[in-house]
Amino acid sequence: SLPIVRTIADLRARVRAWRAEGLRVGFTPTMGALHEGHLSLVRLARTRADRVLASVFVNPTQFGPNEDFEAYPRDEAGDAALLASAGCDLLYAPGVAEMYPPGASTTVTVAGVSEPLDGIARPGHFAGVATVVTKLLNQCAPDVAVFGEKDWQQLQVIRRLARDLDIPVEIIGAPTARAEDGLALSSRNAYLTAEQRPVAGRLNQVLRRVHDRLRAAEPVAAVEAEAVAELLAAGFAKVDYVEARVPETLERLGPGPASGPIRVLAAAHLGKARLIDNLGD
Ligand code: PAJ
Repeated sequence: SLPIVRTIADLRARVRAWRAEGLRVGFTPTMGALHEGHLSLVRLARTRADRVLASVFVNPTQFGPNEDFEAYPRDEAGDAALLASAGCDLLYAPGVAEMYPPGASTTVTVAGVSEPLDGIARPGHFAGVATVVTKLLNQCAPDVAVFGEKDWQQLQVIRRLARDLDIPVEIIGAPTARAEDGLALSSRNAYLTAEQRPVAGRLNQVLRRVHDRLRAAEPVAAVEAEAVAELLAAGFAKVDYVEARVPETLERLGPGPASGPIRVLAAAHLGKARLIDNLGD
């Protein structure tokens, strides 16, 4: 079965042994409650490296005070079995005290790309993500690390910090794994009731129409506003945003018809779940 290490020292000893053999190391960080989306990342890492390392760490610093840190689903035995089946070689599952020993006081903040969208809806979230991902990359020292496009803004934040802090790793984005109706697979989908589940699928359908209408040169602000109204009418309790942005920088598009590449991103609340999705060209 899959070997598990829980300390930075044990992790580094394993990775050092691989390196001594001249092997390329791939890394997939996660918060566990793994599903097919996570496993697709592990499989992609497999194609780019000789050994694949995954981490499971529910990072307290990226959850807001009223968010679901305590309730976040945890199933280490199930996760380990899935990781092994996807071709993972080692699981790194540190405790909170290993990651944040008493006195830890350094935070990584990424200006610009982490400010709009979820940066507004979830204050402090991306500082928590950027800090833990910097630490994980330093701890694991992989050649390549794979992150999902499902969390598009997070992927851009991580690309930026790896460049800005000269972390010698190649960051790879993986396409979003979806259910049949388009719903992006997510550990948080477990919060949806049977009645809410079909409503959740509307999020991706609405985003696809937004994208089509913008490509047909309809005005950005009106299309965004209509999408918000459509989601509320479909049964979402609150829509944090539906916005079209420049893909890599997440800057606003000009007011007129969109020209050049666009990414449409959304976040909306349904029951106990906060769902995010995005797509583009
Ligand atoms: P988590 O939500 O567990 O996601 C781990 C990785 O899986 C992320 O790169 C995420 O984008 C990717 N992922 C999740 N659902 C996906 C899907 N349906 N298709 C493709 N990829 C998907 O993201 C985090 O954890 C954390 O913020 C982390 C980066 C681990 C830092 O704590």
